[in-house]
This record gives sequence, structure tokens and C-alpha cells, in this order.
Amino acid sequence: MADNLKDQMKSFFTDFGIIFDKDQEYLDRLLRHQMRNACRKIDHMHAKVDEGQAEFRSNWAWTPTARASNVLISFWADAFLRGSHEVYSAIKPLLKPGVRIADMGCFTGALAAWLATNHPECKVFGIDGNPKAIEFARELTNLPNASFVQWDYAGDTAAPIEACDILVSTLGIEFCVDDDFSWKCSLDTKKLRESEFCRRRTAEVLPYFTRWREACKPDGQLLAVLRVKNIDHDLSIVEAAHRAGWTFDTARSALLLIGGRLFRLMRFAARESQQPSDAEIMASWQNQNVPPQAGQFFDFVLAVVVYESLADKCVLVSDDRRIQDGHAERVSVGIAGDIGFIFERSTTGYAELKLISLSQVNALLRSGIAA
Ligand SMILES: C[S@@+](CC[C@H](N)C(=O)[O-])C[C@H]1O[C@@H](n2cnc3c(N)ncnc32)[C@H](O)[C@@H]1O
Repeated sequence: MADNLKDQMKSFFTDFGIIFDKDQEYLDRLLRHQMRNACRKIDHMHAKVDEGQAEFRSNWAWTPTARASNVLISFWADAFLRGSHEVYSAIKPLLKPGVRIADMGCFTGALAAWLATNHPECKVFGIDGNPKAIEFARELTNLPNASFVQWDYAGDTAAPIEACDILVSTLGIEFCVDDDFSWKCSLDTKKLRESEFCRRRTAEVLPYFTRWREACKPDGQLLAVLRVKNIDHDLSIVEAAHRAGWTFDTARSALLLIGGRLFRLMRFAARESQQPSDAEIMASWQNQNVPPQAGQFFDFVLAVVVYESLADKCVLVSDDRRIQDGHAERVSVGIAGDIGFIFERSTTGYAELKLISLSQVNALLRSGIAA
């Protein structure tokens, strides 16, 4: 029996059908094999997504069996495990007899199954808009305290379940509003808030938080793991949540860096209260608990935030370059304690930070940074 919680969850999810520690190529072959005819449709779908004619979210409706759906999750098994573990660790102290929990966007119901299995004293609802997902979740989990319910929680229909004490969601919002890369490196939250992207993202997210608020008791909580790229995602999500009657708990929210990708664990209380200020939201990024390690890569505003937070920074060499459309870029190589960095910042608004080992810094200095 695995001894720590994350290992226990991994072993439970493995038994459930989610595959860990396999490369994308292996999973791709497996998914294609399991999907056979549907694969051609998926390729077609991807082409349409690439051409901007379709939304990726539709892919969720295409997996024909519970098994194939679990293979689909396996493509981000690490993010699923980490997100589920973070969410579960946060709500565990609240799980008392009679507590009602809903997992928003449960897909095949793995997290809901974990919760229902380990907390027979609680009632667990797995919610998903995809009827196939609900069918598969019911096929995979048959427990008296677990129910799976189809509901489009960004649509017009009221919640089909009694209000819950706790809502959880791991990647239950599939953002469709395109990213706008202007202002990305700005730490000016006022400008970020006023951007077209923020306005459109807030409007996109508002229906989710409105419906979720209706599905939650007035003293309930929401724990959501969302894929974010930048601070303007936070600002728009927090704004939408506030309008829907949630209060963002900055102190108990965190940035999660999983496989080089950035996610946000966001905690909200279902009561109206003063929202944290922009400065507090910004500080929650600046105080992010991502320990610097060689191999990490950050871009846009996070690159700036992490760069500024590096202690004992010393730029050893820098190079100014002209890039496209009259813009300029500065590339700096240096060290910060026992880690090296390459920091690029351009007048286009782009920034990126690569953390490297000290021996890589030496090699770069020998070969010249332009190389
Ligand atoms: C990226 S998957 C995440 C699945 C799982 N929670 C995980 O962490 O891997 C998103 C899930 O949310 C569901 N979903 C997205 N938008 C929804 C909506 N408006 N109403 C209900 N379900 C939705 C999708 O059907 C899909 O199953």
C-alpha cells in the first residue's frame, strides 16, 4: 500500500484507468487504436481548431468508450494528479458527515470516485455537460454516495442538484477567448484590467461562476484548478467570480507549475465580501512558491515576476538586439545564488526566462551569448 497521499491517489487513479508515466507518442498510438474511426474525425476537428473554425472543447464529446476517455486524460495525467491532490488536501479538513461535494467537469469521474470511496460519510456529485462522460462515469463508479449528473454549467439551466457545501473543479473551464499578447509583460494591473482581453475573458467566465454560485450553499467554498498563463487571467477570473457573488481567497490560492505549464489553484468563498486589491493579487504571483530550478522556463509576465524575485541576481553579460518592426530586445545572462539564468525582454512586450545550471552559464560565456 502506497504510504503518502499523492501515491495513494496515483494508485487509485491507475486502477481507475488513467495511465501515468507514458510518453505522448505511446498515448497517441493507444488513443488512435481505441478510437479507430473516431480518430479521423478528431484529426479533422484539430484541423478546424487550428484554422480557428472550431473550439477544442468539442473534442471531449468524441471519445467513444470510458477506456478511451481515460486515455485522453492520461495526456495530462500529472496535471490531473497534482490538481486533484491539491484540491483534496485543501478540502480534506472540511469533509464531515453529511457534507455535499460537487466536482464540476468531472469527465469520467475519477476525482469524484476517489472522494466518494474515501468519504462514505459525504455525498459526492460528478457534474459534466457531456452526456457520454456522465454515461462513462456511471459505468466506472457505482457507489451509494456518488451520483453523476449531466449539466451545462455555463448555460441557462439552473443547477439540477441541491446546493453543495464544497465545489471542486480541475480544468472544468475550457477557455475559448483567444489570448491577447499585448500588455503581457506589464505589471500595471490597471492597464491589464482595461485590456480588451480582460473584458472578453471576464464575460466568458461569468456564466460559469454564476451557475457554480447557484450550486453552492451560501457558506460554501469553491476550489478550482485552472490553466492560466498570466496575471490578466487571474484578474478577469477574479472579477467574474466577484460579480457572481464569490470572494477570492488570495492567501489560500497558489500557482502550480506542472511539467513546465502554469496552473492556478484558486479558492473562493461563496459569500460576498471585499475582493482582494490588485496589489494583493499581484503579490500572490510575486510570492509564488515555485522554487527556482535549472530547466524551468517562464514567459510573459511570469518571466518578469520570477526574474524580479530571484535573490542575489548578478547580470554577467547582456546583449541588445534589434528585432522585427523596429523593436529591440535585451538578452541577459547571469547568476542568482546557485542558479543561472537567461532573461530576454523586448519592447514588443514579450519576456522569457530560462533557469539554467551554473555550468551552462559558463558554457554560454565561453561560446558568447549570441550563439
Ligand atoms: C479539461 S476536462 C477536465 C476533466 C477533469 N476534471 C480533469 O481534471 O482532467 C474539462 C471537462 O469539463 C467539462 N465541461 C467544460 N465546460 C462545461 C460546461 N459548460 N458544463 C459542464 N461541463 C463542462 C467537459 O465536458 C470536460 O469533461
